[in-house]
Amino acid sequence: MRSSLQKAIDTITFPFRALTLFEEDRFGLSSLATERFDYVARHVRGHCLDLGCGRHDRFIQNHLGGKGVGIDVFAYEGLTPDQIVEDPTDLPFPDGSFATVTLIANFNHIPEPVRDPELAEVFRVLEPGGNVIITMGNPLAEILVHKLVEGYDRVLGTNIDMDGERGMHEDEDFFVPNREIAERLGRAGFTGSELHYFGTQWGLNHLMIGTKP
Ligand SMILES: C[S@@+](CC[C@H](N)C(=O)[O-])C[C@H]1O[C@@H](n2cnc3c(N)ncnc32)[C@H](O)[C@@H]1O
Repeated sequence: MRSSLQKAIDTITFPFRALTLFEEDRFGLSSLATERFDYVARHVRGHCLDLGCGRHDRFIQNHLGGKGVGIDVFAYEGLTPDQIVEDPTDLPFPDGSFATVTLIANFNHIPEPVRDPELAEVFRVLEPGGNVIITMGNPLAEILVHKLVEGYDRVLGTNIDMDGERGMHEDEDFFVPNREIAERLGRAGFTGSELHYFGTQWGLNHLMIGTKP
């Protein structure tokens, strides 16, 4: 968890951090990834499945002390073969295996036709009383960040853009509205749809929580 001083510094420096998009913490500042992981970790209730974990399974390993499992549809650097699940509508876990499932910066990357089936599968692998946590940015911020990472990788030769490396599907989006997420959570059987905005990102990112009754 970040200290109060770190949060104050991160709030003041948000525009610089958002435009430079460094992947790891640097110059005494938190990366946007560290920040979103920090906000999500506060709501994790126990053994956690991080669905769409990205490179190196950073959330489970660095923010939950390894207490959970990170999986992804794509064989990113730092993941083992057992962490690759090509079809997340058919997860290789028994019913009620997890206290929390996280979908961090990726709900818009789930192709639209499989969003409901995937949430139904998330519901199945959660224990009763468990929660699902979905993060989503403001629409303009999401489009700007996606364009910035594409541009940086092209011009500077960096490799920040995980979605470019994987290759985006035509049914993916840059952004999904809260109303759509809430409706899909409801259809999957979740109650709640609690909203929390990220203060140190000036409210331009947030998370939504659904609970399995
Ligand atoms: C922007 S990256 C975010 C990665 C990581 N969660 C993070 O916060 O750094 C989007 C991730 O969504 C994953 N993804 C793509 N299709 C998915 C699907 N159907 N279900 C879950 N994740 C998916 C991608 O492979 C990628 O790892």
